[in-house]
Amino acid sequence: MDNWKIVSTAGYVPPLVKTNDQLSELMDTSDEWIKTRTGISERHISLKENTSDLAVKVGQKLLKQTNWEPESVDLVIVATMSPDSYTPSTAAIVQGKLGMTKALAFDVSAACSGFIYALTVANGLLASTNKSRAVVIGSEVLSKIIDWNDRRTAVLFGDGAGGVAIEKSSEHHLMGMDLATFGNLGDKLVAGQTTVGGSFPKPVTSLAPFQMNGREVYRFATHEVPRSIQAAMDSAQVTADQVDLFLLHQANARIIAQVAKRLNQPITKFPINIDRYGNTSAASEPILLDECVRNGQVHRGSLVVLAGFGGGLTTGAMVIKY
Ligand code: ACO
Repeated sequence: MDNWKIVSTAGYVPPLVKTNDQLSELMDTSDEWIKTRTGISERHISLKENTSDLAVKVGQKLLKQTNWEPESVDLVIVATMSPDSYTPSTAAIVQGKLGMTKALAFDVSAACSGFIYALTVANGLLASTNKSRAVVIGSEVLSKIIDWNDRRTAVLFGDGAGGVAIEKSSEHHLMGMDLATFGNLGDKLVAGQTTVGGSFPKPVTSLAPFQMNGREVYRFATHEVPRSIQAAMDSAQVTADQVDLFLLHQANARIIAQVAKRLNQPITKFPINIDRYGNTSAASEPILLDECVRNGQVHRGSLVVLAGFGGGLTTGAMVIKY
């Protein structure tokens, strides 16, 4: 594996919080249903900031914490399934707003696995070019693509962003990984499909809101996430017992508990923050990583597994020595 290290981590969520009880005033649901089925108590909702605005906040924190000059950054990748626009990419907006004038910038679309996919792409570019500094951010404003009349999805998601500043390093930080895509299952989780019109001249296409077959995604996740983590650990030549922490995509606390069980690991090695943020898709893992770095659960030398799953369908897992 190639050599880079995470120099700094950051997270940002918009200030407005909506509790389960507040959602139950809008739709036929309850705090009890949401908590027992998912582990979610509340989520942050962005009223004014778009996906790039949240990502810019994370980028600003990373620049400040690393003391990097904006022009010294070579690469900006944003993982998102809720970009500001088809074009420009959210990463290009971030690059422009932060004055990272020398950086190559683009988005990666792999839904909730997006952060792992983006880190993998950054890893490849740092290894194969003379680029040495990258900012990799997961950012989502999912509240703008959700059907707020559909209780099956509306209660699950939240807005937020998280990211890492990474740099080429002689230390060995990425130890193993596993990525997989299951395009045949793509219809189980869809958002933003466009229509081609069927007549000419045609109306401007409108985007379809988020839809998900929750049960099938649940079944997929509880089987494929342990497999993916095991494959990443095998490629890193480490065992689950050697791993200090498993930072899983925060989609459902029950899925995380199932994965812990299948890997025969104590649930205490699986930090959870879904109660406060809901599912923030590509942002969930970097937000969780940042919290764990700040509260000391992850420190230099910690052996950490990052694992995501979601739209595509996709899975991704990485073993990192922090
Ligand atoms: N409040 C109250 N009742 C509800 C709600 C709600 N918000 N939503 C659904 N229900 C009802 C259903 O209508 C159903 O009622 P019925 O039996 O009368 O038909 C009942 O609750 C059970 O519904 P299920 O969908 O079977 O509930 P389940 O136990 O499967 O939980 C959930 C649903 C939480 C979505 C679960 O399936 C899940 O977490 N799936 C995985 C989702 C996931 O991980 N997504 C990540 C994708 S990330 C990405 O890429 C963006």
